[in-house]
Amino acid sequence: MYNNLLSFGDIIELNLKCDVSKVMFNITKDIKNYKWLQYNPRKNINRYGLSVTSTDGSFNGIDLDSIAEYNKENNTNYDESSFKKFTNVYYDCYETRRLVDPFRPWLWRTHYLNFRQGGYFPPHRDMRKVDNQESFRILVPIRGCNMPELYFMYEDKPLHFNMGNAYFVNTNKMHSIFSFTDNAYMLVMNIECTDESLKKVGELIKWK
Ligand SMILES: [Fe+2]
Repeated sequence: MYNNLLSFGDIIELNLKCDVSKVMFNITKDIKNYKWLQYNPRKNINRYGLSVTSTDGSFNGIDLDSIAEYNKENNTNYDESSFKKFTNVYYDCYETRRLVDPFRPWLWRTHYLNFRQGGYFPPHRDMRKVDNQESFRILVPIRGCNMPELYFMYEDKPLHFNMGNAYFVNTNKMHSIFSFTDNAYMLVMNIECTDESLKKVGELIKWK
């Protein structure tokens, strides 16, 4: 089924969007109860995360850490599917709910990312095996995610996004991100890959 979806494209704009200024207000101004944490604090890279889901609904940062390293140190077995409890970011922000609710039954690790100047992800693939596709990604660029502020390279080309619009992105292919601004924000959803969740993506495809 996943490969079937890919016949429609590696990057598919969906009929799902948010009011960007309302999201920005909520995630940056209305932060009395929110905790932005450094994304993978084991690496000194200028990027931060705000959890929409976590192990227990708190901002304990496990979902934003390197899960492999955390498991090794703490003798735990967390994976993408261990982060399903909503934080207040979900409950307080109507626009966040609007974006994630269509995928709610299959929603795994989900967070906002804030890239600051020099923040990056080096070239990588999200999947490291070829047998079965356990999850897939839906991205919602919120602010500053296009050139020249931020370069989202997908294989050999930079992507261009409409801010506030949700996209299916096949992150099995090589991709990398580099930010030249402090104000780049996006929502990253990990969705359990099932026939039903893929069908939901299909329902949300813009047909023209
Ligand atoms: Fe990635």
